[in-house]
Amino acid sequence: MALPSSASAARLRLLTVPALLLLLSSAALLVFLVLPSLSPSSSATSGHLCACSPPSTHTTTTVTTTTTTASPAPVTTSPADVAWLKAQLESNSLLAGGAAASHDAWHRLRKGINPRTREQQLFDINRHHGISHYPDEEASNHTALPCPGELLVEEHHSNYGEPWAGGRDVFEFLANASALTPTDQVLEIGCGTLRVGLHFIRYLDAARFHCLERDELSLMAALRYELPAQGLLYKRPMIVRGEDMDFSKFGDTVMYDLIYASAVFLHIPDKLVWTGLERLAGKLRPQRGRIFVSHNIKFCSRLGGDECTRQLAKLGLEYVGKHTHDSLLFNHYEIWFEFRRPKV
Ligand SMILES: *[C@@H]1O[C@H](CO)[C@@H](O)[C@H](O)[C@H]1NC(C)=O
Ligand SMILES: *[C@@H]1O[C@H](CO)[C@@H](O)[C@H](O)[C@H]1NC(C)=O
Repeated sequence: MALPSSASAARLRLLTVPALLLLLSSAALLVFLVLPSLSPSSSATSGHLCACSPPSTHTTTTVTTTTTTASPAPVTTSPADVAWLKAQLESNSLLAGGAAASHDAWHRLRKGINPRTREQQLFDINRHHGISHYPDEEASNHTALPCPGELLVEEHHSNYGEPWAGGRDVFEFLANASALTPTDQVLEIGCGTLRVGLHFIRYLDAARFHCLERDELSLMAALRYELPAQGLLYKRPMIVRGEDMDFSKFGDTVMYDLIYASAVFLHIPDKLVWTGLERLAGKLRPQRGRIFVSHNIKFCSRLGGDECTRQLAKLGLEYVGKHTHDSLLFNHYEIWFEFRRPKV
């Protein structure tokens, strides 16, 4: 189902390298959109199910009303959802074709309109071809958040090994597996361009999403393109540029209901993974809190099963089990490993 790769594929692959080498080199704090008044730790001690002290983190009446009266959006696609969509496809005669359609068939559907590569779109954006625009001095004072053209043509949606849409699969799995609620506090280790994080940010209440990310290009895509383009600035996610598992900027008192690392631990040295776990174990809400790690846990298995269990126990953690989750849109499944803080 993947679209044919464009002529710019080689160049995009070059961008993949920095995007994937998460948490590995030096960095400085990025100036971003966090309000001091949205202290994420202020209500973290009240318990995730406590409805007695509604968070006052929202800045508009509309949002407050919505979150206190409506039930949260569903986190998974239900069998009824799938049945509904299939009925819609059928009634619109769209069931045939799909995955089986040939390149020629796609071309016929396009009625001869040639696909434009991201490079071509970027060229046009850079010279303002075909787009109404302000000339001269006016050019610089009408746009509130001018964004680099590379991001506007969504080059970063091709910077990872999976379709961008796979981010939704990760969210659906993690949110369901952790019985996520909008008031939960979530930490993503290495959120990249927010392929996954966007779904958490949309679902969670304001300021509930934290992320540590070291890659400059990814941070730029997340903050300069994805958040404003998705209308999610009001959610005030705390996205911090940093590395070496340094979570100190998130504060001393924050407690997480969910901590996850999607395709991150496999790219960093075992020793650093253990450093991160050591720093985070005490910030995981006892019993309820979960850590999920994707792909593999070689940082653990390389030690041998018993030694790994012992190391985890020393940190106050235990391994719960392995899960898989099927993708909604393509033939793929995610592998996840779950950890928690046991009863003491
Ligand atoms: C933008 O700058 C131009 C030239 O200085 C000025 O005439 C115009 O009023 C400004 N427009 C806005 C929206 O500030
Ligand atoms: C959601 O979580 C529940 C409880 O852990 C599990 O039984 C169910 O299979 C999960 N559903 C999906 C779609 O993953």
